Amino acid sequence: MKYKGSAYIHTIGCQMNVYDSEKLAAILNDYGYEKTDDLDKADIVVCNTCSIRHKAEEKAFSFLGRFARIKKQKPHLITVMAGCVAQQEGKKAFKRVPHLNIVLGTQAFSRFGQLIETVQSGKERVVDIAGSQKIYEALPDTSVAFGCDENKISRFVTIMQGCENFCTYCVVPYVRGKERSRKPESIVEEINCLAKSGVKEITLLGQNVNSYGQKEGGISFPQLLSKINDINGIHRIRFATSHPKDLSMDLIYAIRDLEKVCNHLHLPVQSGSNKVLKKMNRGYTREKYINRISDLKKHCPQIALSTDIIVGFPSESKDDFNDTMNLLHEIEFDSIFAFAYSDRSSAPAAKFSDQIDERQKRDRLNALLQLQERVTQKKNNELIGSIIKVLVEGKSIKKRDGFEQNSKNMKQMAGRSESNKIVHFPSEHDTIGDMIKIKIEDAYPHSLWGHPAGA
Ligand code: SAH
Ligand code: SF4
Ligand code: F3S
Repeated sequence: MKYKGSAYIHTIGCQMNVYDSEKLAAILNDYGYEKTDDLDKADIVVCNTCSIRHKAEEKAFSFLGRFARIKKQKPHLITVMAGCVAQQEGKKAFKRVPHLNIVLGTQAFSRFGQLIETVQSGKERVVDIAGSQKIYEALPDTSVAFGCDENKISRFVTIMQGCENFCTYCVVPYVRGKERSRKPESIVEEINCLAKSGVKEITLLGQNVNSYGQKEGGISFPQLLSKINDINGIHRIRFATSHPKDLSMDLIYAIRDLEKVCNHLHLPVQSGSNKVLKKMNRGYTREKYINRISDLKKHCPQIALSTDIIVGFPSESKDDFNDTMNLLHEIEFDSIFAFAYSDRSSAPAAKFSDQIDERQKRDRLNALLQLQERVTQKKNNELIGSIIKVLVEGKSIKKRDGFEQNSKNMKQMAGRSESNKIVHFPSEHDTIGDMIKIKIEDAYPHSLWGHPAGA
């Protein structure tokens, strides 16, 4: 394809959006646009958007808003809103961003090229938010396309799209559509290509990976893990997200038995209060959640656990919030992602009574994060003196007192443990992509520090 210009892609949102942006880059590449990191050079600007919380949505509008002025000096510039806000807003997006050219919904990627042509032929505004059964199959392979040649050790691979769980706070079922799983052959082929290009770690993505393939009647998620476990060159397999109501014994056995599957599970609990969990439509109780964790710990005693929490859900009382705090005390997660509830007009909870005021949400969020910081510090302290296998991801720029490099020739590197903790260490060589044993000497809430074992 003949060179048409440069493309700048700005990504907001979850890991799935990071993966989607790589696909967008590959499509644009097929279409003659080379990726650039220099906004001034761009002939096409894409903002891949997220609508999970109000703040994320505002970020998208403010990023795209900047181009009103730039387009006056550069009239040929094509501006694109892609992803979840695009899907949610459709043509309403032009009201807030009048200079926008393309609104590209989450299931319209395969038609992106035609939409660009339509704009180039003189139509100023086009919208495509139609649904699609296909996911990614018709799109170019990112492992060989531009934008993906960044020599990354760890890559995301989306295995399913959409969600039908309808948690009452969440926009995902409305912006990502019905649950669809990719064919196992297509996933395995993509990971094979990535492995050949030097990728060592894969994170499989879906809103609820435990229900992978169920609708299609194909292989189950644990069976898919087993196939990926056989791929040469891949050293580690991670996945997100698991829904507690669908966590099967087979998945627990897969974590225990498949050597490349990391001993780490991200299992969002959202709240420790049964009243709130019911209103959220999560489909499990606090007791059921705790039971799943004890099954897991019985078979995988060393498992690292992380979770997502929402504070300030409508009608969350002080007692409900304390139930969540107690749960964090009881389970002692290795890490958490915590959010203040954000009202989304397309989700049912927006109409619930007893909305919590913003200040109270902020106070609860701070209290929760402070508690978790202590728990994480305590868990990380327990690792001091132990030897941990680290997959080296790159050079680290983080400095720390008393941890100076031994000599000028030493580089400071960083990687992750199986439990997904960041580990910093000095090394004589560029060890990117290697699996190295590190003796842990110091621990902080967000990082571990050590030296190569035996060095
Ligand atoms: N499918 C995943 C979550 C996807 S969204 C799951 O079910 O676990 C990621 C996280 O964002 C959620 O786990 C939740 O904690 C948070 N989230 C979703 N909607 C939210 C809202 N309206 N306000 C605040 N946080 C929200
Ligand atoms: Fe949203 Fe719930 Fe689906 Fe997760 S499971 S994406 S929180 S609706
Ligand atoms: Fe956001 Fe869409 Fe992901 S709403 S969290 S980018 S699925």
